[in-house]
Amino acid sequence: MQYNFDEIIERKNTDCIKYDFAVKRGMPEDVLPLWVADMDFRTPPFVIDALVEKSRHGIFGYSESGQDYFEILQSWLLQSHTWKVQPDWLVKTPGVVYAICTAIRALTHKGDGVLIQQPVYYPFAGSVLLNERRLVVNQLIYAKNRYAINYEDFENKIIENKVKLFILCNPHNPVGRVWTEEELTLLGDICLKHGVTVVSDEIHADFIYPGYKHLVFANTKPEFAQITVTCSAPTKTFNLAGLQVSNIFIPNPSIRHAFRQEMAKSGYNQLGIMGIIACKAAYQNGREWLTELINYLGGSLNFLRSFLSEKIPQVKLIEPEGTYLVWLDFKQLNLSEDQLEDLIVKKAGLWLDKGTIFGAGGEGFQRINIACPRAILERALDRLEKAIKDLIQ
Ligand SMILES: Cc1ncc(COP(=O)(O)O)c(C=O)c1O
Repeated sequence: MQYNFDEIIERKNTDCIKYDFAVKRGMPEDVLPLWVADMDFRTPPFVIDALVEKSRHGIFGYSESGQDYFEILQSWLLQSHTWKVQPDWLVKTPGVVYAICTAIRALTHKGDGVLIQQPVYYPFAGSVLLNERRLVVNQLIYAKNRYAINYEDFENKIIENKVKLFILCNPHNPVGRVWTEEELTLLGDICLKHGVTVVSDEIHADFIYPGYKHLVFANTKPEFAQITVTCSAPTKTFNLAGLQVSNIFIPNPSIRHAFRQEMAKSGYNQLGIMGIIACKAAYQNGREWLTELINYLGGSLNFLRSFLSEKIPQVKLIEPEGTYLVWLDFKQLNLSEDQLEDLIVKKAGLWLDKGTIFGAGGEGFQRINIACPRAILERALDRLEKAIKDLIQ
């Protein structure tokens, strides 16, 4: 290993959401945070070097990415996901949630139905509701420790609610599924049949565990490309969320035009220069770093799995196929939502994301972020073990 993911880096007093705002957000001061989806690892040295070099240059005027930016992006996506993107498809946005909100406004009208598959990343529902569209939910099926899609309900919900837009989470946060070709094709065919446009949020695409493969939804069938807005970003992969850089690919010119128009209405124009610099450096040099990171996360996942089965078997791990966000089932403890929150926050001193914020099907679950040095994960699990043992004694 060339990179050291065991290093514990102090994040307190760095204006960081994960560590610095506990009390403000109703958590105890000394809570151990494993919630929001960023990592406690430093971004790779070649990204830091590129940012330092730009800082030293010292001029931060209006900026735009050039041909090299696109070529680096194209090569990363081709190598990682066998997807060949074209220059005119690209629209850059300051974040994926921004892109989702823009797509909702550009492609639907107030009151239109927008479909999501809960439990899912909570800003999906927020984006629909804040933009005054109707939230339509196709709940995932949870059976035998794994999540699957209810296609009949998916199609019925589209028909009954005249759904115009579907927001797909691929890979899926928080249930950890990396959707297969068959699953994506079935979903896409239903969308094609009913004229539904798809926003495919693929921000977690680079975090895939051995044995699984990320498939770009828009690339699974040529017709799907024409109905899809694909959201990608280097921000999860290389821990750059604070630099707000995402790359949205829209092959269909009329969808792209509507999207761009909506962006213009919000006054947004260019990416920040540090986002451009970091994105290029990361995708140009980041392959080996990412391979080591995935290995490390795989080790942490093994650690978590063994810890739970040996010490707290009451907590069930939903085996993630991708992402560093792990969905844990606490239902065997038979606690109310308040009791579960009390156990996690007050007794164990942990700040996780409670399942109910992910919507339907989230009751009795918690999401834990394992992208931290193993020692921090171990400390968190020790706290959880003690709290659960005290509870059931
Ligand atoms: C599925 C998913 N989409 C989007 C985001 C956030 O993207 P951004 O910070 O670019 O808005 C996250 C972050 O957790 C996520 O899990």
